[in-house]
Amino acid sequence: MVSLRKAAVPGAFDTAAHAYDRLVDANPGYHEHLRLSAQRLGLPGDGAGLRLLDLGCGTGASTAALLAAAPRAEIVAVDASAAMLAQARTKQWPDTVRFVHSRAEELAAAGVTGPFDGILAAYLVRNLPDADSGLAAMRDLLRPGAPLAVHDYSVADSPRARATWTAVCWTIIIPAGKLRTGSAALYRYLWRSVQRFDGRAAFVERMRRAGFTDVHSETVPGWQSNIVHTFLGNRPSHRDMDAYRGR
Ligand SMILES: C[S@@+](CC[C@H](N)C(=O)[O-])C[C@H]1O[C@@H](n2cnc3c(N)ncnc32)[C@H](O)[C@@H]1O
Repeated sequence: MVSLRKAAVPGAFDTAAHAYDRLVDANPGYHEHLRLSAQRLGLPGDGAGLRLLDLGCGTGASTAALLAAAPRAEIVAVDASAAMLAQARTKQWPDTVRFVHSRAEELAAAGVTGPFDGILAAYLVRNLPDADSGLAAMRDLLRPGAPLAVHDYSVADSPRARATWTAVCWTIIIPAGKLRTGSAALYRYLWRSVQRFDGRAAFVERMRRAGFTDVHSETVPGWQSNIVHTFLGNRPSHRDMDAYRGR
């Protein structure tokens, strides 16, 4: 498989799911950075009474990060790859965490409806066939005023970040992925999809166009600095909407 269509990405994760945790565990900072993005949602207290969505939850790494940020919240964790979800379900979770098999584009049909008090989408939006409609759907799932954190690689704005990303992919990620799974296709797709993804400024603008307010980004420490970002924004509150309509 030389190129991977975005609609086929969950299928590629099905075949690589057994190796996913070992590969990301070898990536220094992977879990810490997910926890940072979950904390940046700024959820109140211990999450009691909140409903949160982890979209593209994979094997549950981002779900664990959400749970650490809001241990008493109800968490709905969704992924389109049955094999990634099967890995997630082998782990220990409180009864407040529920996994759902669905594409992000078909949540209502899978019974996943809002409102949510926060959404984390880690390494998902870059893989969606239509990022704009994906963001609009996430906005509509949020309670007015509630936050979205998109956690992803974005290198287009920085030649240094692009060079580091390419070097790390071709010397470590692609060879290690091929060694663990027998195929380099998903890891070559990862490299290429990040190269082609929005730069930081363009993605901030994309979130604004999708109707989010207070949009901004923060990066992470380590080799991923200026490569991995948390993009944050809120669904407009009722007060924002009234101000916008001039009331
Ligand atoms: C790189 S993994 C990230 C998993 C997890 N969020 C984490 O941080 O480790 C991307 C996940 O997005 C899922 N995915 C890709 N496209 C999707 C879509 N259209 N709808 C739902 N899930 C999707 C894949 O199946 C995969 O499990």
